[in-house]
Amino acid sequence: MAKEKFYITTPIYYPSDKLHIGHSYCTVATDTMARYKRLRGYDVMFLTGTDEHGQKIERIATSQGMTPKEYTDKIVVGIKELWKTLHISYDKFIRTTDDYHIKAVQKIFKQLYDQGDIYKSSYEGWYCTPCESFFTEHQLVDGKCPDCGRDVELLKEESYFFRLSKYQDRIIKYMEENPEFLQPNTRQNEMINNFLKPGLEDLAVSRTSFKWGVPVEFDPGHIVYVWIDALSNYITALGWGSDDDSLYQKFWPADIHVVGKEIVRFHSIIWPAMLMALDMPLPKQIFGHGWLVINGGKMSKSVGNVVDPNVLVDKYGVDAIRYFLLREIAFGQDGNFNNEALIQRINSDLANDLGNLVSRTVGMIEKYFGGTLPADRTETPFDADLKAVAAATIPKVEEKMEHLFFSDALAEIWNLIRRTNKYIDETQPWILCKDESKKGELANALYNVAESIRIVSILIQPFMPLTPAKIWAQLHITEDMTSWESTKTWGILPAELSVEKGETLFPRIDMKKELAELEAAIKASQATSIANQQKKAEEKKEEESKYPAEITIDDFCKVQLKVGEVLESTAVEGSKKLLRNVIKIGDEERVIFSGIKDTYAPGALVGKRVVVAYNLKPRKMMGEMSYGMILCAEDGDGKLSILTTDDKDFASGSEIS
Ligand code: ME8
Ligand code: MG
Repeated sequence: MAKEKFYITTPIYYPSDKLHIGHSYCTVATDTMARYKRLRGYDVMFLTGTDEHGQKIERIATSQGMTPKEYTDKIVVGIKELWKTLHISYDKFIRTTDDYHIKAVQKIFKQLYDQGDIYKSSYEGWYCTPCESFFTEHQLVDGKCPDCGRDVELLKEESYFFRLSKYQDRIIKYMEENPEFLQPNTRQNEMINNFLKPGLEDLAVSRTSFKWGVPVEFDPGHIVYVWIDALSNYITALGWGSDDDSLYQKFWPADIHVVGKEIVRFHSIIWPAMLMALDMPLPKQIFGHGWLVINGGKMSKSVGNVVDPNVLVDKYGVDAIRYFLLREIAFGQDGNFNNEALIQRINSDLANDLGNLVSRTVGMIEKYFGGTLPADRTETPFDADLKAVAAATIPKVEEKMEHLFFSDALAEIWNLIRRTNKYIDETQPWILCKDESKKGELANALYNVAESIRIVSILIQPFMPLTPAKIWAQLHITEDMTSWESTKTWGILPAELSVEKGETLFPRIDMKKELAELEAAIKASQATSIANQQKKAEEKKEEESKYPAEITIDDFCKVQLKVGEVLESTAVEGSKKLLRNVIKIGDEERVIFSGIKDTYAPGALVGKRVVVAYNLKPRKMMGEMSYGMILCAEDGDGKLSILTTDDKDFASGSEIS
């Protein structure tokens, strides 16, 4: 019988020299599902890749003296390296710069244009340069970019539009009739109520303001903008529109598009509308997962709070990291990334529950039976419950995996692990071993524990690419005993099971010592990535000068501000604006010049408290040194107002922080 197909995708990632654990989370989850389906006998196509066009890439590349393609070629090597480190078993890696993709995108664009789903008009919108996004008036928040809060500018440009509005009712109907389409369920209500019901606007799908993109064949000067280019990767990767579309015929429609929650809208509205226009079946499911957050904020490179997966994998191994990501955070929700929780999970779930179970079992079989169990076994009263728990675990895991409830699936597996540890405590091999007449019970208990470990080692395979084989080596489990179906039969291991001790699966970690080291390692990796970015940042200075630069608290603390009392404030000969002030700051008296005579007459400030920038480098003004600066507010008309303390007699010399 032909295998059933299963097609699953990650988003295509923007090329970045620092993909972080947030990106890895999405990819690891998708990989786990792909591995699971392969184990279940499906013919799996697992697609990932990179989304390489756009103005941002064009700019970065130029600033580094490269063509955009040279730049992304370099980055893609690093991304593939990371996926290797995390044992991501993708079947295909698509780059939107691949020839076949470009051709197919042009074909889609042309077809939609020819049939009237794309038309030419002009686009006017509020543009946020750092986010590279246009917004409509009503999308702005207080007149600023709704995503980053920065200033936007009104731009007008000729553009092709996709008739998104035409598909709004069909999409609503589709969602309502197919509750499985968008998961978790809450995301569907959000899409319907916030976007579809209020009405869709047609979508600008081309640009003329930059060059790095798929050219619109029939209108040079226009390039295909973002979503038609990016979303269509899911079909172009299968060869749609090429000479050989057999993979498309076999795998489309996708079974699951796994995406982060911020791009659910594009996947559940724009993508279905495109497919409807092209008269193609819709994907069966979009799963919108949550974000990895750090101290309440999304982990992202621009915030500088990213955790480098390489650091974690180097320290604890890939299986521990994959386990943690999928166990700690419920897949549909946001979850906090926390070093302490990571170490905690490694110690309790991996070292203690699983690692210890395997090592003590192998150890006891060696100690009591010289490494090989005898075939003669006698049942114990505790066997039935262990077998029942194992048998019940498997369908529960299957059910959780169908819904991408990875954390729940792992919880079920760990329930079996803990039950097995409890079985050891119940049967008490260390007591049985003392009595020759209990040899059969002892052998039976250890056989059952080993059998339970065998089942566990199969169930954890989708999550942990390395640990199962390490367990199999110790219990001499061969491939024919590791099929998914074999978990449903108790007693697959040979009666005369032999074992050999192997490496510790998960060494215990000294929490206190390790926490400090881990934090230092993460900081160091952030610093390197910051150093790399610094060069680019400098080159982008011009653009950035449009926005107020952010400084760290450390930067801010370098500024020393103090309260001063004005003793004298006199006019300066030859200057229209300057006042020469003598300021008392604690025990000290300083001369500070200040250009405020338009607002404050000589003498007017005497007796007032002012705020002084205290550690400013002194400079010569009107032939005399000035030591610091008096802080003033300035309104739009150039009118000034000194800053002062609420208490008008507040002690001079006081620190401001
Ligand atoms: O959005 N936690 O690419 P991208 C969880 N090219 N997931 C995170 C995350 C975090 N802290 N940070 C990022 C794009 N991600 C487009 C997609 S698809 C046709 C085009 C996830 O590199 C994010 O949610 O910005 C998204 O699903 C994926 O990484 C790629 O993000
Ligand atoms: Mg993004």
